[in-house]
Amino acid sequence: MSLLEIENLTRNFGGVTAVANMSFQVNTGEIVAFIGPNGAGKTTLFNLITGLIKPDYGTIKFKNIDITGKVPEKIAALGINRTFQNLQLFNGMTVVENVMVGAHRHGKQGLLQAGFSFPGVAKEERFILAKAMEKLELVGLTDKKDIPVEILPYGQQRLLEIARAMAMEPKMLLLDEPAAGLNQGETDILGDLICKLPKMGMTILLVEHNMDLIMRISHHIVVLDHGSKLFEGNPGEVQNDAKVIAAYLGEEIV
Ligand SMILES: Nc1ncnc2c1ncn2[C@@H]1O[C@H](COP(=O)(O)OP(=O)(O)O)[C@@H](O)[C@H]1O
Ligand SMILES: [Mg+2]
Repeated sequence: MSLLEIENLTRNFGGVTAVANMSFQVNTGEIVAFIGPNGAGKTTLFNLITGLIKPDYGTIKFKNIDITGKVPEKIAALGINRTFQNLQLFNGMTVVENVMVGAHRHGKQGLLQAGFSFPGVAKEERFILAKAMEKLELVGLTDKKDIPVEILPYGQQRLLEIARAMAMEPKMLLLDEPAAGLNQGETDILGDLICKLPKMGMTILLVEHNMDLIMRISHHIVVLDHGSKLFEGNPGEVQNDAKVIAAYLGEEIV
């Protein structure tokens, strides 16, 4: 079943067409990767889907609902969440608090206020804490829960950001370069984690430059070049396509 349907999506920045007449569909439970050189439009595509920016043209449908141009909060409430290319954790808070912020309907402020308030809220906080601990366990950070986030090693901070994005229990999770800066061991852990998510009811959109990871975990790959869709197919088809090799994969394959 098609969960996400993108049709003729277009976004210009001044003279640059960052996303050009892009159409594709994502099925429920798939891991779909978006690859292409820097500046190809991958992050812009994620920004459009999550409502951070609005398209000039085209439509985005999620669960058959037209979400084109809706505000980020509305889109998140429908079950779409993301991580960012650059880490966006809250320094000064612990590891588990960072995940709780992700789960909390009222964000960071709600979490802080709840510390001083009445029993109903305390109950809700316990629920959110339990949910947050579940997510920490999934990414292997249970024993780090009480340490300040800023002293967590970088690779674990990236995993934590995924745990936080999962805290809202989204139906679709967008990961923008989650393996950036990770070593091989950390990348393997990340790959195993992402592979588990569809079984938990999540559909994954992934932007990554690490081709080994992409080819290992993706069901479907969309290749972008200068804002346009150059090709799409399964990993084998992408690796063997002459256009893709010429535009992007060439130097990585040989
Ligand atoms: N907010 C913005 N303002 C102006 N230009 C932008 C903005 N965001 C992206 N761009 C431009 O759009 C193009 C695509 O960028 P981006 O989506 O970040 O590519 P990628 O994530 O594939 O590296 C680039 O030329 C970039 O400079
Ligand atoms: Mg990017």
